[in-house]
Amino acid sequence: MVVAVAAAAASSTWLTCALLPRQGLHGIQQPTPSLQWTNKKRCCTRKAGSTITAKLELKPPPYPLNALEPHMSQETLEYHWGKHHRGYVDNLNKQIIGTELDEMPLEDIIITTYNKGDILPPFNNAAQIWNHDFFWESMKPGGGGKPFGELLQLIERDFGSFEKFVEEFRSAASTQFGSGWAWLAYKANRLDVGNAENPRPSDEDKKLVVVKSPNAINPLVWDYSPLLTIDVWEHAYYLDFQIRRPDYISIFMEKLVSWEAVSSRLEIAKARATEREEEEKRKKEEKEVGNSDNQAVEMFVDSKSDDSETE
Ligand SMILES: [Fe+2]
Repeated sequence: MVVAVAAAAASSTWLTCALLPRQGLHGIQQPTPSLQWTNKKRCCTRKAGSTITAKLELKPPPYPLNALEPHMSQETLEYHWGKHHRGYVDNLNKQIIGTELDEMPLEDIIITTYNKGDILPPFNNAAQIWNHDFFWESMKPGGGGKPFGELLQLIERDFGSFEKFVEEFRSAASTQFGSGWAWLAYKANRLDVGNAENPRPSDEDKKLVVVKSPNAINPLVWDYSPLLTIDVWEHAYYLDFQIRRPDYISIFMEKLVSWEAVSSRLEIAKARATEREEEEKRKKEEKEVGNSDNQAVEMFVDSKSDDSETE
């Protein structure tokens, strides 16, 4: 199904979507954005009289294109970043120009067009832009080795040991059939099932997980916080390793991973989870106060009607 959608993404005529209230990923917990399509076609028409309000730009890696040599060649970066990544940016800009989507942050476009799994045409380009930005920033010259501090502690808690984590990550990356990604992500304690609540929330529910995803899909769409990724599309390693994906994965883990970047992302993910919990707690308290106020009003009305009956 995803493959079919990827093909559909190449088609360009699409159109107006009536967006429900705008959501954001960066703040407090937000319900998943959703779309109401005004047309049976899977596309939207352009807004009447619309103007371009934003244009996504190709973000360069945080190091020169030859900085990862000899582990990842300049030629690979020139093709992978300079052509593939650039192509996703150019294509998405063409797809969203003049629509409601061009006013959204990239993360919101991803969640909105993921559309709870019923993927809409701009999703693949939007997610691939985000994934590649994240991938470049997951590496650094002189990377690899072991993580440290709380990140290492959580890896050891959730996988048993750093070596077992590497084994699981390597397995996810090497067994992703066809094109896709492998991820280390922080999974907060959340249930996306309407009004349900976890009756026994615990800090240990928040944990690190290894997941893999096909094509452009990333853990944002499951409401996880990505911490590390490896691109296992063939364009990521073919020039340097030909079909030897396992060798590429080994070099990535041993020589390229920026554990500093992963640690920073973990801090942000934890802060985000705490912020959401506090916001949810505040909303729950407000709701309880609202309910008790309503009960007080009902009691007042009841007592008044009782008086009238006795008169
Ligand atoms: Fe790629």
